[in-house]
Amino acid sequence: MQYMTQLVTRMLISSNHFVLDVCFLWLGVWCCGQADSTEAAPMEKAEQAALYSTIQGFVGSEWNGSDLYPDPCGWTPIQGVSCDIVGGLWYVTALSIGPVHDNSLGCATNVEFRPQLFQLKHLKSLSFFNCFISPHRHPITITGGKWEKLADSLELLGFRSNPGLIGQLPTSFGYLTKLQSLVLLENGLTGELPTNIGNLTNLNRLVLAGNRFTGQIPDSFGRLKKLLILDLSRNSLSGHLPSSLGSLTSLLKLDLSNNQLEGMLLRDIAYLKNLTLLDLRNNKLSGGLSQSIVEMHSLEELVLSRNPLGGDIMSLEWQSLQNLAILDLSNVGLMGEIPESLSGLKRLRFLGLGNNNLTGNLTPQLASLPSLSALYINGNNLTGVLKFSVDFYGKMGRRFGAWNNPNLCYPVGLMKATNAPYGVRSCQRGVTLLEPSSRAKLGEGNFNQNSHFIASLGYSSYGIHGLWLFFLVDILITVLLLNLFL
Ligand SMILES: *[C@@H]1O[C@H](CO)[C@@H](O)[C@H](O)[C@H]1NC(C)=O
Ligand SMILES: *[C@@H]1O[C@H](CO)[C@@H](O)[C@H](O)[C@H]1NC(C)=O
Ligand SMILES: *[C@@H]1O[C@H](CO)[C@@H](O)[C@H](O)[C@H]1NC(C)=O
Ligand SMILES: *[C@@H]1O[C@H](CO)[C@@H](O)[C@H](O)[C@H]1NC(C)=O
Ligand SMILES: *[C@@H]1O[C@H](CO)[C@@H](O)[C@H](O)[C@H]1NC(C)=O
Repeated sequence: MQYMTQLVTRMLISSNHFVLDVCFLWLGVWCCGQADSTEAAPMEKAEQAALYSTIQGFVGSEWNGSDLYPDPCGWTPIQGVSCDIVGGLWYVTALSIGPVHDNSLGCATNVEFRPQLFQLKHLKSLSFFNCFISPHRHPITITGGKWEKLADSLELLGFRSNPGLIGQLPTSFGYLTKLQSLVLLENGLTGELPTNIGNLTNLNRLVLAGNRFTGQIPDSFGRLKKLLILDLSRNSLSGHLPSSLGSLTSLLKLDLSNNQLEGMLLRDIAYLKNLTLLDLRNNKLSGGLSQSIVEMHSLEELVLSRNPLGGDIMSLEWQSLQNLAILDLSNVGLMGEIPESLSGLKRLRFLGLGNNNLTGNLTPQLASLPSLSALYINGNNLTGVLKFSVDFYGKMGRRFGAWNNPNLCYPVGLMKATNAPYGVRSCQRGVTLLEPSSRAKLGEGNFNQNSHFIASLGYSSYGIHGLWLFFLVDILITVLLLNLFL
């Protein structure tokens, strides 16, 4: 009987055809003639009670699974609960709270972590999505309870999109040394990142993005040698990049964007030979470009925009980044001429050099980049004649941006005015617009009065001080990056 019920329940677990399964179970029970709920669901009473109570804490005390789910791991499984048999008994191995599935259990307004959570001794995966949602009426902190009790089992811990989840990370997270994935994405968490996160040396994914963490990135993060993804973006982290980041040699993606990090780019990032994404945009990094950048040969996306970096773009051998598809160096105070070596990056799709102090002529070689689909050189002090072909302007359309270079012009007669680069003077006449009918003079790259251009892009004239274009480019990159992440 024991064997048979296990067989039946196993078959049920592996199947989606509920009605059939239930009939089958009844049949099995009937023919053996000794139906017994404890045998149909060999689950420790203590485990079962702990499960019900834990769930009650999140979905509300009025919920009591013992009627609806007498067999929470067997033929009436609870949505978001997965189980496994250990030593002949069912145990909960994964618990996922929040509206992930169509008929998942929703969270109550008065959510609470119950101590029974830490009695689920075979719990491998615990995740919360959109569960703690009232930062003002019902803010809640992550329990400082006995996380060490889950130390031998927990491999995956996730809190996503919980604006009502506030306060600091409990230091007892440092005990969860089996963790492979710690994802605390888009919550209201604050305080400094605990140093002992560095104890979680089995982590391959650490995502703390979209919270309000402050302070420095702990040096101890350098101990997380198995990390593939480190995403601390969209917080208020400050201070220098710890040089220990250079020991995370397995890293594929490093995103520290949208913080207040300062100081120089690390020499040691050169050791990140497998890194495909480095996003440091919108920080306060300074001290110029570092040679170490072009030593990360796997880089596909390099985004350093909106940092007061300064320095000379000519100083690096860009052609060593042969996998580069996205290079965004806009608004970093770069000087120098746009180097020819950039035209050796055959996979380049996006090149953003806008709003720097670049000078000199633009090499027509850039047009020969086979994959290039966006090129922004606006807001510099480039000079001379644009020597791209008519086809190039046709292909790029508005994704070629060259305005706000007062000493740049395009050769007259070379192209129809409809293809003329926006905001660039013809070498003999005034500045052209996209529409031949709206041809007009523009004062020194000032777009404020130019409603035609604005209307032609479908945007209102609000905030048109060039910032909106930044924004657009930013969105474009974000979408591209998201594609890679998902
Ligand atoms: C659920 O209800 C049953 C019977 O009413 C009761 O014995 C049990 O303690 C309750 N469980 C929880 C977790 O409240
Ligand atoms: C975690 O690391 C800290 C140092 O960062 C160390 O002092 C502590 O003993 C470690 N704790 C555990 C549980 O390993
Ligand atoms: C880098 O990637 C290669 C190829 O995928 C792999 O063999 C190597 O182990 C990786 N290096 C590190 C330090 O993880
Ligand atoms: C860049 O140009 C701006 C104005 O065009 C100027 O204020 C700034 O000092 C320049 N920066 C450098 C590093 O030359
Ligand atoms: C731009 O460069 C020209 C020389 O090429 C120089 O005369 C002018 O002052 C520069 N403008 C700015 C704003 O730096």
